[in-house]
Amino acid sequence: IPGTLAPTPPMGWSSWNKFDEHIDDATVRAMADAMVTTGLRDAGYIYINIDDGWQGTRDATGALQPNAKFPDMKALTDYVHARGLKIGIYSSQGPKTCAGYEGSYGHVQQDAQTFADWGFDYLKYDLCSGEWFYNDRDTVVRSYYEMGKALRETGRDILFSLCEYGRFEVGSWGRDVGGELWRTTGDITDDYKTMAEIGFDHNGKPEHAGPHGWNDPDMLEIGNGGMSADEYRTHMSLWAMSAAPLMMGHDLRETSADMLAILANRRVIAVDQDTRGIQGQAVRTEGTTEVWAKPLADGSVALALFNRAETPITATMSASDAGLASVSKVEDLWSGAVTSGLAGSYEVPAHGVVMLRVTA
Ligand code: GLA
Repeated sequence: IPGTLAPTPPMGWSSWNKFDEHIDDATVRAMADAMVTTGLRDAGYIYINIDDGWQGTRDATGALQPNAKFPDMKALTDYVHARGLKIGIYSSQGPKTCAGYEGSYGHVQQDAQTFADWGFDYLKYDLCSGEWFYNDRDTVVRSYYEMGKALRETGRDILFSLCEYGRFEVGSWGRDVGGELWRTTGDITDDYKTMAEIGFDHNGKPEHAGPHGWNDPDMLEIGNGGMSADEYRTHMSLWAMSAAPLMMGHDLRETSADMLAILANRRVIAVDQDTRGIQGQAVRTEGTTEVWAKPLADGSVALALFNRAETPITATMSASDAGLASVSKVEDLWSGAVTSGLAGSYEVPAHGVVMLRVTA
């Protein structure tokens, strides 16, 4: 039952990285407002996703109720939809979610229908409990399939996001259960070391990625304050080169001009959202220097020169890194400068990046 809603990697915002369990109705509404006023919606970020912490208990019919922080889910989805945005919610196939809230175990169809009735457009489904029976591939795959099918049967378009941390090689079957993105790693945190390990070393296999099926190296930390601007540019570049979902994770009301310039850079977003849907990868690695390439739909190639060292470097990018015989146009995606050929070498700050789009 392959999905039909994510021809390019999904873009939006999720509550978890900044607000964890302390998310509430007013904050979600404020994020929807800020998505519009910052211009981020118009840059392509359309999902406002409520992660874990919204759940209350089940009523006498077994229907899952939100907790007191979410007095009226339908009114909330209406509010978000009225701003030209879509809205997501979170559950687990286990009896409990990762933060210990009520999961969908034993109520899969009922919960899918509840989410559809409330007006949700996206479900993140996260397997954290019930290890005593979710311990083999078939059981795990079936549990996602049941929810994927239940979502489909509601008749509402609900994008299905799997949170399986790369276990059981989720990328090889995520599409079959209706998933259009699947987590391939553990949780990101707002520090360069964790971000770099995930983005450079632990993302999913490129052969699993493409339209309607994306490896998900977890949500963005850009704007949360734990990394330098160069490091956040690396974070954004790496996710774009990886054709990763771009789910922001900061307080959108506090988006500084510097962070907005990173998150709303149309040239970099276009690399992520390229319709060919190829997941870029390293084509040349020399110690802590990595050159990545991502072939794009118009025949041009995105190239990124990453410096993982703690000191600046001077290094090269070549036409052959892009798989081209020669290059006639080069656009620097962070500065916007356009030149007719590659420079002899590029200076890259500590933990930084130079990202280009090169055309034969
Ligand atoms: C797991 C996921 C996170 C978040 C939390 C919520 O840790 O990986 O992204 O959804 O659960 O509890």
